[in-house]
Amino acid sequence: MKGIILAGGAGSRLFPLTLVASKQLQPVYDKPMVYYPLTTLIESGIREFCLISTPHDLPRFRQLFGDGSHWGLAIEYREQPRPEGIAQAFLIAESFIGRDSVTLILGDNVFYGGDGFSQAFSEFKGGATIFGYHVNDPERYGVVEFDAQGRAISIEEKPKTPRSNYAVPGLYLYDNHVVEIAKNLKPSARGELEITAVNVEYLNRGQLRVHRLNRGFAWLDAGTSSSLHEASAYVQTIEKRQGIKIGCPEEAAFHSGFLSLHELESLTAKIPKCEYRDYLGALVAETKRLKP
Ligand code: DAU
Repeated sequence: MKGIILAGGAGSRLFPLTLVASKQLQPVYDKPMVYYPLTTLIESGIREFCLISTPHDLPRFRQLFGDGSHWGLAIEYREQPRPEGIAQAFLIAESFIGRDSVTLILGDNVFYGGDGFSQAFSEFKGGATIFGYHVNDPERYGVVEFDAQGRAISIEEKPKTPRSNYAVPGLYLYDNHVVEIAKNLKPSARGELEITAVNVEYLNRGQLRVHRLNRGFAWLDAGTSSSLHEASAYVQTIEKRQGIKIGCPEEAAFHSGFLSLHELESLTAKIPKCEYRDYLGALVAETKRLKP
């Protein structure tokens, strides 16, 4: 399965922060925001990525990640000239997807905890898999409704009167039919190719699975200055308390087997002296201690 990270958009809700750096490059505590969704996909076993952003911001992402080979990844880049909808990503990345299945993650979605995703990735055989997360303000999101047996029966984008409290987070798994489905979409009233319309199509075909994420799982929004601040505070609290890092791609690549211990050690040596380097250094030392 291949991975798309969608990191475009105008970032207008974060003005003036976004005057010089796009939303997904803003810090969430101790790392750029885009590190978190990238790490989520690496932890799920994804190794080949296509990052989509605006023509203006794409060079910055290239500067940040290069071709990904230093982390054992392969990262390609594509431009989205205008924010014409999340589902447009499948048209922009068509040649990258090829004949594969694909997962799409939004560059401003921060997830933490549980093993809800790894199970969904390992069980994925075809059709589409999305997630449902209980929230207080479902009207801001795609909303999924379940029947008494727990099967999804409707999905609506930002409904005025939500039929449930289950929002659909920005992580989606699709088989290769998603490209053809995206090609047949018509722009919505707000002029976008809607990801919800893709999910409705899979639902109508009887090929949509919705995993409900449990209570122990955190899905953070980093789209406004106050939610960005809250996401940073959350990450800081967990990292300080547990002595682990959330959203550390090097560590995830190592655990997923994309980097050897020797490679992790040599890339750690190239990081300037800082707390991030100390963290990776401690991971190397601990691994050597356990498996000399
Ligand atoms: O966060 C999850 C929600 O994301 C879902 O529940 C909704 O179903 C889905 O439509 C989307 O909701 P929003 O309308 O709030 O998404 P927004 O327009 O804020 O875009 C989400 C991210 O994707 C944002 O970081 C910018 C990026 N984006 C968005 C569009 C429309 C692009 O890169 N290109 C685009 O064309």
